[in-house]
Amino acid sequence: MKNELPPPGADALAHSALLSQRITAEITAAGGWISFARFMEMALYTPGLGYYSGGARKFGPEGDFITSPEISPLFGRSLARQVAQVLAASMPHVIEVGAGTGLLACDLLAELEALGCTPVHYDIIELSGELRARQAENLQTKVPHLADRVRWLDALPEQFSGCLVANELLDVLPVQLVAWRQGGIFERGVIWDAAQEKFDWQDRPAAGRLLGVAESLGVESPEEGEYLSEVCLPARAWVAEWGARLSQGALILIDYGYPQAEYYLPSRTSGTVQCYYRHRAHTDLLLWPGLNDITSFVDFTAVAEAADEAGLAVYGYTTQASFLNNCGLLALLETIGASDEAPYVRASRAALRLIAPHEMGELFKVLIIGREMDSRLIGLATGDRTHAL
Ligand SMILES: C[S@@+](CC[C@H](N)C(=O)[O-])C[C@H]1O[C@@H](n2cnc3c(N)ncnc32)[C@H](O)[C@@H]1O
Repeated sequence: MKNELPPPGADALAHSALLSQRITAEITAAGGWISFARFMEMALYTPGLGYYSGGARKFGPEGDFITSPEISPLFGRSLARQVAQVLAASMPHVIEVGAGTGLLACDLLAELEALGCTPVHYDIIELSGELRARQAENLQTKVPHLADRVRWLDALPEQFSGCLVANELLDVLPVQLVAWRQGGIFERGVIWDAAQEKFDWQDRPAAGRLLGVAESLGVESPEEGEYLSEVCLPARAWVAEWGARLSQGALILIDYGYPQAEYYLPSRTSGTVQCYYRHRAHTDLLLWPGLNDITSFVDFTAVAEAADEAGLAVYGYTTQASFLNNCGLLALLETIGASDEAPYVRASRAALRLIAPHEMGELFKVLIIGREMDSRLIGLATGDRTHAL
């Protein structure tokens, strides 16, 4: 696997070596073993060194992956129609969590203004200081007259009425690796192999909440070998936090993922965690910490259950294609470049990436949860799949 990846430059390797030292020190301090969730958290978010907190370009063609807002402004413009409906039924306040380069914020603000419902506040909650700076720069360049509505929050608000948006946030929350074997349920963690000078895996019996959740998933241990997958406790906790804070409105969660029955299919024997490095997916999860994005699919059943436990309503669950079509993506496309073919062709190709079943249309899902919204949400008008959760 390692040989097929383009080799990082000397600077990048030195950066990764520095982060590896930090992780090794943490492993030593913890008695020789850390959970993979802690490894993932450090690999992604260690200030100045982690994947999302270090300096490299992550998003776009020269980076490691591309997200929907980076593919086309039609994503944000369509989503704005759903956000507008939520704002009309609650307060004119948007919160975006995990805003990447800030492009979605620019598109949403511009389109909400065009729809006549500019939010009074557009708050961003972003872990990475480097990305906060990029978001501010993009907002100043693309929507300077609206940039003063944007605030960066350091903590979650006590109370919130409005619309929360998170695109590809849940897939980067740290997951614990779980191995089901005839001998029991184990958590796979990370050790430092000093002789070989590399990170390695070591299993321990799963315990506490992780064990409880793993037991509840109905996974059968195979006769031989193991069934490996993952559990994301932070996604459940994150929803519970918002459940305690949302007084009225909705959380629109967009990500790649499955309902639980599909997530823990007997045939999916090695889980869904992957690394992205220069547009190549690989599963060498301990390789070059800080240089790879590490992500997993979202267990949308777990997220919906956490919402229910937190007293939130589950308004619906559908594919990205259905959601964007329901929000009028194709009608928006028709308004582009009527007098000039080239922009229209470019925009159509991008739109296709967002909605085609073999691209992002089916793999990506939209889950909308919330409180005190009586109107039927336009993005869920057709294609609801809540029954699958
Ligand atoms: C895969 S990127 C998606 C970015 C953007 N939403 C997009 O679609 O292009 C994940 C984003 O979430 C941020 N992030 C990860 N964990 C977070 C957390 N717990 N709170 C806030 N932001 C977080 C990352 O720094 C990054 O901006």
